[in-house]
Amino acid sequence: MITSPKTTLVLGGTGRTGRLVARGLAERGYAVRTAGRHGADVAFAWDDPTTHRAAHADVDRVYLVTPVARTRFVEAVAGFLDLAVDAGVRHVTHLSTYGSDRAPPEVDILAVERDLVGRGTISHSILRPAWVMQNFADDHLPIVDGAIVVPTGGGAEAFVDAGDIAAVAVETLARP
Ligand SMILES: NC(=O)c1ccc[n+]([C@@H]2O[C@H](COP(=O)([O-])OP(=O)(O)OC[C@H]3O[C@@H](n4cnc5c(N)ncnc54)[C@H](OP(=O)(O)O)[C@@H]3O)[C@@H](O)[C@H]2O)c1
Repeated sequence: MITSPKTTLVLGGTGRTGRLVARGLAERGYAVRTAGRHGADVAFAWDDPTTHRAAHADVDRVYLVTPVARTRFVEAVAGFLDLAVDAGVRHVTHLSTYGSDRAPPEVDILAVERDLVGRGTISHSILRPAWVMQNFADDHLPIVDGAIVVPTGGGAEAFVDAGDIAAVAVETLARP
């Protein structure tokens, strides 16, 4: 049952999980707007705040994928969330990462989570998946000297299907 006539904004909407989140919500009858720099419903670039306001039009939920392949992004995300709250967003599902809750607070991955949790006017879901299986299907994990090397400390490491992450995200966005 559709409980909101408004739109869900899906950041990283052309990416591994974002495109699946968008598809899953649309299949359940929700209005969805994908965002990204190329080929999305709305042009959105983390480095260009002028693109952020249009993305939020008539939006009440957000799938938050933070800037990828960067270490410093908490301020950009905070500005984005300020705008989201002003625009009427009431729920954010955030794609974080495995182990973020054990990171030092000055690490932006955890700082973004804390910012989100501290915002009293919106609800949130924080997803902390391990490595995504689809990393094996592109150049995310390069082959070095004939081996795929990941920082597991020599221990066993689970990989998760992006489809399973997206399925959880869809549930949290459909029923915040
Ligand atoms: N990959 C993993 O194993 C894994 C595991 C756990 C958590 N995560 C987390 O998942 C998130 C996504 O990582 P991913 O590597 O799997 O990427 P992804 O979601 O497959 O792709 C990135 C998406 O973000 C968009 N994007 C990239 N740079 C952008 C920018 N500057 N401004 C606006 N949109 C931008 C891309 O579209 P455009 O290029 O067209 O803009 C694309 O839609 C990261 O926060 C990562 O920490 C990843």
